[in-house]
Amino acid sequence: MATDRHRPEYHFLPPANWMNDPNGLIQYRGDYHLFYQYNPNGAFHGTIHWGHAVSRDLVHWEHWPIALAPTPGGPDQDGCYSGCAVDHDGLPTLVYTGVQPQTQCIATSTDGMRTWTKHEGNPVIAAPPEGLDVAGFRDPCVWREGDEWRMLIGSGIQGLGGTVLLYRSPDLRHWEYLQPLLTCDQCQTGHMWECPDLFLLEHKHVLVVSPIPLRRSIYFVGAYGDDAFVPENRGEVDAGGHFYAPQTLLDDRNRRLMWGWLWEGRSKEAQVAAGWAGVMSLPRVLSLLSNGAVGWAFPEELTALRGEEVAREGLTLSSQERDLSGRRLGQALEVVARFAPHGDEPAQAYGLVLCASPDGQEETRIVYEPATETLSVDRTRSSLDGEAVRDVRGTPLPLEEGEGLALHVYVDHSVIEVIANGRTCLSTRIYPTREDSLGMGAFAAGGSASLESLRAWRLKGIW
Ligand code: FRU
Repeated sequence: MATDRHRPEYHFLPPANWMNDPNGLIQYRGDYHLFYQYNPNGAFHGTIHWGHAVSRDLVHWEHWPIALAPTPGGPDQDGCYSGCAVDHDGLPTLVYTGVQPQTQCIATSTDGMRTWTKHEGNPVIAAPPEGLDVAGFRDPCVWREGDEWRMLIGSGIQGLGGTVLLYRSPDLRHWEYLQPLLTCDQCQTGHMWECPDLFLLEHKHVLVVSPIPLRRSIYFVGAYGDDAFVPENRGEVDAGGHFYAPQTLLDDRNRRLMWGWLWEGRSKEAQVAAGWAGVMSLPRVLSLLSNGAVGWAFPEELTALRGEEVAREGLTLSSQERDLSGRRLGQALEVVARFAPHGDEPAQAYGLVLCASPDGQEETRIVYEPATETLSVDRTRSSLDGEAVRDVRGTPLPLEEGEGLALHVYVDHSVIEVIANGRTCLSTRIYPTREDSLGMGAFAAGGSASLESLRAWRLKGIW
């Protein structure tokens, strides 16, 4: 895999095989613990275990032994599906879904989270609430509330829509069903909500869910209290079409950090042939914006990866695009670009060009279109490989008077993550085939645009 030009160098992923959702995110004794849905038997979804990795600095990760494996004859014999981790008065506890049928199970560790023992009384929740015709019953999210615990389970009510079911417990073992915390019958948000996460962000609560069949994650900002949640605002977590099933943790610097699963954008056969599939996103620091939406930033720790730098200032871009890096930065780089606010007659489109071959046969564009106030990732020419997904994914990004486009971009071989103006995320996957698809530049089309400043760095690998 060392010669695999699509395999990321500074994003977390297992040594081989399949990975999907982040699970059990928790900071414990100062270390960040990341568990994840993992198939040790190949680069496809099946025989789901919980993989485990640990980081001191949020940048470098160490692989730890598999935390959970299906127990033959047990409630999780067909898989240990997604869930969370809590600190139960010093006893680390994982809460997860066993399949099939979907039930909720727990496991604890007495050796600092190295090894895990499943609770003898599993499952702790053996069936969905009586009388509810549910479309799924999985992915517990648990938190402390006073002397008790609360749990949300991702579900859907047949004929109604996605829902999250609220439970309470005095001890994590005995659970009582309360009611759905939110059911979205009106708002067309799918029939089953996977991977709920509910957390406090400044003075509001945020509920994140991943609805089937939307293939993307959404959030509600609202008020939570007395076992009820009133949504006030809604948004999209990431508009790139590859970021799914995110989970968050609160760290000792009081930051709410989110990771998501970046799925592949190539055929199942190509994934199996590569021997690996699925990448963890970089962590994102969440904030609450003044308009009530969630704001996003990459954590400053990631600057530790920076190596050789290319810096440019005050470039007027006309139709022609430029290679600004001389291809020196390779396939693992970071770009911070600020465009000047555009005037009354802006270019039709402007933005960045990434992973471009010298003749432009392969290239990926991050495009801003003033007329429609849309930011998109254009990967119609990202790869000459016909098996790789080619499309344009966009999202509204209205700029304020006097506000210029500000892009923070991480490129890591087949992964691109973009945060624009601190309020929009676009993550995507690309599979350039040419060895020389290494150009990084900027462009304007149908007019000119001004690139105030651009800084780009070659980034180091983390292993
Ligand atoms: C989301 C999901 C979860 C489930 C897990 C199984 O991607 O489908 O609902 O627990 O993946 O791997």
